[in-house]
Amino acid sequence: MSSFHLVGGEMHAEAVPLAAIAAAVGTPAYVYSAEALRRSAQRFRAALSGVPRKQLMFAVKANPSPAVLRVLADQNYGADIVSGGELDCALSAGISANHIVYSGVGKTAPELIAALDAGIGRFNLELEREGQLLSVLASQRGRRAPALLRVNPDVDASTHAKITTGRLDSKFGIPIDDALAMYDRLAALPGLDLHGLAVHIGSQITDLAPLETAYRKIGDLIRALRQKGHRVYHVDLGGGLGVSYRPGQPGADAEAYGDMVAEVTRDWDATLLFEPGRFIAAEAGILLTRVLWVKPGARHLFVVVDAAMNDLARPAMYDAWHEFAAVRPMGETFVANIVGPICETGDTFAREREIDRVQEGDLALFKTAGAYGASMASTYNCRAIAPEVLVDDNRYATVSERVPAHQVRKQRLASWMDDDAPSIRAA
Ligand code: LLP
Repeated sequence: MSSFHLVGGEMHAEAVPLAAIAAAVGTPAYVYSAEALRRSAQRFRAALSGVPRKQLMFAVKANPSPAVLRVLADQNYGADIVSGGELDCALSAGISANHIVYSGVGKTAPELIAALDAGIGRFNLELEREGQLLSVLASQRGRRAPALLRVNPDVDASTHAKITTGRLDSKFGIPIDDALAMYDRLAALPGLDLHGLAVHIGSQITDLAPLETAYRKIGDLIRALRQKGHRVYHVDLGGGLGVSYRPGQPGADAEAYGDMVAEVTRDWDATLLFEPGRFIAAEAGILLTRVLWVKPGARHLFVVVDAAMNDLARPAMYDAWHEFAAVRPMGETFVANIVGPICETGDTFAREREIDRVQEGDLALFKTAGAYGASMASTYNCRAIAPEVLVDDNRYATVSERVPAHQVRKQRLASWMDDDAPSIRAA
């Protein structure tokens, strides 16, 4: 069941007509359903009911809207963050610091300090030097930083090459063959409380076999670490579960995933962490847009919409499919290319696709855009950042404003071009 559905021939988000939202905030705009967020959050938790000790951390990169994070915090989801900016988002949404895990291959010293000072629950270390730096920073503060070692298990997640992270040639984690020796060294550092492992092999994964292979390798490593006397009591199994973007192409079976995890980790005796992003948020959001023109072309029709690759980058970046639908479907279809206004051919949402017949001025939407939609927006072509609206039953609220490009970029002339600005010279 979707929270975006037709009522009386018109698309609604829960009980709110999308046309009302377009009238209030304009287009393009992201619209999120609180009900859909809660439903997927509950489904994921229920799927893991066979795992006795667990912490669920929403991957903030999928959707950093504080309003979205708050809905999920109310479902007892913490946050998986990858930057100081995401730390601010999570804290300002009211997620408690000890419910935050910090992943990422390029954390800076100021970011590590901010996370230490906030008292976050865990750091996932991606390389030895990072562990050494974190140990020094924590020791300077009279602390020991809680940390897990992220392992690269050398498993191909069989997903899009740009979002696969668990092969040895990827930049993420410690090659699994080096992990034992590195764990020895990092566990001995005075400023670290190293107490487990982390793994994440990619995103939009629908085949559970590679996940199972990776988790079994982690299980072997846990046993080897314990044999050497190491403490392993938290294991972060990452995110990665895929969703259905296209009719006929199902998403991951969360319940089968839960069963597999319960079985593989049965004798681990550890608290498991999970970092789902897409699975929680993707279906809970749409990108609302307006048809600018229906343009005849030499080969095919172009439906030119007011949303573009700067608003929703996934089709241009990963050739991703997002279903398109009219807000007031006429019951007819035609075949068209759906394109945005940006000045490159990559700004194409769909090629020769059979879609609802639309005409100039019609409202339409791209589905399954609640994850990696707004969070990947840019101001390319000096376009504004689209606003975001959260719907909950018959209520809706603007949870981020449309921001013109010049307010995002804060550009200015060089001082010497501007008579009023002080000019600085090198000696
Ligand atoms: N944990 C870590 C360490 C990650 O790197 C990621 C995603 C996640 C969790 C959440 O993965 P999810 O459950 O959402 O699959 N922009 C791309 C997706 C990039 C994913 C990056 N890492 C896209 O639009 O498909």
